[in-house]
Amino acid sequence: MARYVMRDLWSEVRREVRRLPVDASRFGEDRGRIPCKSPRHDTGEPSRDRLSPRPPSDPSAQPMLVLEAIADPILLLRRDGTVLRRNRAAAARLPAVLPGRGLAPPGSEEARRLASYLALCARSALPVSGVLDLRVGSRRLRVRCRAAWMEDVQGGCILMHLPGSDPVPEEEPGVAARAEPERDRILTRLHRIGQEERLRLARDLHDQSGQSIAALAMGIGALEKHVASAAGHEQIQRLRAQLDEVSKELHRIAVELRPTALDDFGLGVALRRLVADWGARSGVATDFGCTGREPDLASDVEITLYRLCQEALTNIAKHAAGVTTVSVALQYEGEAVSLIVEDDGVGCREGDLSTTRLVADGKFGIVGMRERVGLVGGQFEIESSPEAGTTLVARIGTPGRRI
Ligand SMILES: Nc1ncnc2c1ncn2[C@@H]1O[C@H](COP(=O)(O)OP(=O)(O)OP(=O)(O)O)[C@@H](O)[C@H]1O
Ligand SMILES: [Mg+2]
Repeated sequence: MARYVMRDLWSEVRREVRRLPVDASRFGEDRGRIPCKSPRHDTGEPSRDRLSPRPPSDPSAQPMLVLEAIADPILLLRRDGTVLRRNRAAAARLPAVLPGRGLAPPGSEEARRLASYLALCARSALPVSGVLDLRVGSRRLRVRCRAAWMEDVQGGCILMHLPGSDPVPEEEPGVAARAEPERDRILTRLHRIGQEERLRLARDLHDQSGQSIAALAMGIGALEKHVASAAGHEQIQRLRAQLDEVSKELHRIAVELRPTALDDFGLGVALRRLVADWGARSGVATDFGCTGREPDLASDVEITLYRLCQEALTNIAKHAAGVTTVSVALQYEGEAVSLIVEDDGVGCREGDLSTTRLVADGKFGIVGMRERVGLVGGQFEIESSPEAGTTLVARIGTPGRRI
């Protein structure tokens, strides 16, 4: 133990002792000389002479005797959190806390928090209260504590008073394993609810807003008959044009919410139209093939594959420099449906497609595809290599719920 600058340490310990519950029965032979607040003499403020002991015979031992008299665990710590000394209460209640050891593994979150708490104590003139999570060996503890800085000849140490220490409840084994499927179920449910909501909005836009727009157009037509001036007719033409714009915009939003082609013609035809339109806009040769018999697919499976194809084509337009041909295949085989989108563009390195890398780079297209396919119980793969193009495959089981 460091040799303390006795006068300073003594006054600090004495100040602490005034605040702490002292167990007089622990004093042993030095009992008469130790400042104490024994239950018998506890009249609030301790008497002056009991707190001003005669100088101890072994100065460095005396503070520890005081600490031994305290019923709560007391630790003396180095600034880095290494335990220098502990009193008997600490040895009994916190047996894993040993002199020479730290209160948290170096580099851990607990060690970081402890270091900033101790730094605060070292800067403060008064004891600092706190609640700390400690990790000693395999034991985790949550402690309420008060700690004060004390000078010693080696630069100082921290006296920590721990009136309460409880084991931190360990995470129940298997909780994480159970949480994962639960999370998937909730996400799937949310995904379905989202799709249902989009479908409802699309229907509302089509049925209600569409009818209102048609009624407005008829009203404008009826109004036109009563307008004689050229300026009035001009104004009516402008209103018609604006109404036409609103109608187109609403139609576009409704299609975004729920591709109407899916409702009208089914997945195969909707994809064929999507690929052909994209080819016409981009000027890239496209090829679409559908094999197998189209079963009655669940609506969320259809939407997932449709959106996946949209994002894959967008990616080709954005990233597949030099692309000349894109082929899309929809294959129904037994209980599964697969969508394959292939391009002969510049490709990219396999490492660029790892989820960790994509999320770190703030790219969410492929991550989103993987998630969407996962939510309907399917598998997703993407393969790419420089100058060899990119192939994307999604495979989903066909039995499902139609929303
Ligand atoms: N067909 C492709 N050809 C070449 N590289 C591709 C192709 N598809 C994806 N990539 C590469 O994979 C990366 C990730 O694609 P992803 O769709 O996740 O993100 P993004 O398109 O860059 O951004 P966004 O989040 O807007 O979709 C792209 O930045 C690109 O480098
Ligand atoms: Mg993208």
